[in-house]
Amino acid sequence: MTLEEKAGKSLEELGTTDAQEVARLFGEAEQFLGSQENEVLSLENDQEFGLKAKALRDFWLSRKNGLIAQMDKTWLKGAPKQLRPIVGFHFNSLRGRAEQLEERLDKRRKRILKTVRGLEDERPRQTPTDLTLPGYRRPLGSFHPVTRVQREIEDIFLGLGFSIETGPEIESVYYNFDALNIPETHPSRDDWDTLYIDDQTVLRTHTSPAQMRAMEKRGAPLYIIAPGKCYRHDKPDSTHSPMFHQIEGLAIDTDITFGDLKGTLDFFAKKFFGEKVRTRFNPSFFPFTEPSGEVSASCPFCDGRGCRRCKESGWIELLGCGMVHPDVLRYGGIDPDRYSGWAFGLGIDRFAMVKYDITDIQLFFQSDVRFLEQF
Ligand code: DAH
Repeated sequence: MTLEEKAGKSLEELGTTDAQEVARLFGEAEQFLGSQENEVLSLENDQEFGLKAKALRDFWLSRKNGLIAQMDKTWLKGAPKQLRPIVGFHFNSLRGRAEQLEERLDKRRKRILKTVRGLEDERPRQTPTDLTLPGYRRPLGSFHPVTRVQREIEDIFLGLGFSIETGPEIESVYYNFDALNIPETHPSRDDWDTLYIDDQTVLRTHTSPAQMRAMEKRGAPLYIIAPGKCYRHDKPDSTHSPMFHQIEGLAIDTDITFGDLKGTLDFFAKKFFGEKVRTRFNPSFFPFTEPSGEVSASCPFCDGRGCRRCKESGWIELLGCGMVHPDVLRYGGIDPDRYSGWAFGLGIDRFAMVKYDITDIQLFFQSDVRFLEQF
């Protein structure tokens, strides 16, 4: 009977009933392992060695069908109680040897790799140098388009004296909803919109919770932006991705007015899209701002006349914004009678899509080098 066949049987079926016979059985297995190992290590052809080494490794150590796994099942787990300790002892020693075998084979494999690489290194030195040949091109990485746009937006606000804050992507329901005045019954809290980790923990659905964390940490006055990843229970399509990027903006000080909000966002749009663009504020609703607005910029590509990129409307929607709701200031520990503030939230991916004329948001997250190389 081969060792392989023996490994498929229980000790009882093999007639191995006492410590001595157990030792003999494992002795036989170790010997077999040793002879197989020697055979493989003595192979001179590197390629043949590589193939045989892998086969041998799998024969002994493959998780599902390897001899060790089988013996674990049949010999060790199936051993009668009184033989267990002695079977365990021999089994561990055999397994140890099998694992060392892997290391020893690996060592030789690495040596082969080294010599192959060494040979490659040698090659240019052996040929005479022709100084008129072009140099080696070293491929350089570049920033992901979403990162580029994020940095561009950050730079504009850093220039205005804002600082950058971050918050956790795994966020509490309190920061993501409650403290932002989002009522218990708001549809955005639904399982179908929000990815819950547990009752009290979500993957943040927007960067707005960073507002609250910054208020608690720094108090007023406060001028921050908070970029980062957000998550929603969205089916991926050309304009939706379950993971996307936002930047939150927040300014809190004495005497902050809607005029400051309009002026700052108009300045921002001109810096980002070019001096020619005009901005438009439409009324909207967000639970954490009052009043709330949505800002659009005149299409920088057709000057507002209407083109494919603005869907013939002449306008491109940029972001949501508003004056921070007094209750939100209160949640953040800031006195709304003394301070006021404005906030905005924008989708970085959308900005990048507009800027680079990309019609499918999925392209950002597929890591296709042919796409990414263009930036
Ligand atoms: N958090 C909002 C969203 O994800 C965007 C937003 C709107 C943020 C208005 C704000 C704001 O700070 O004032 O849709």
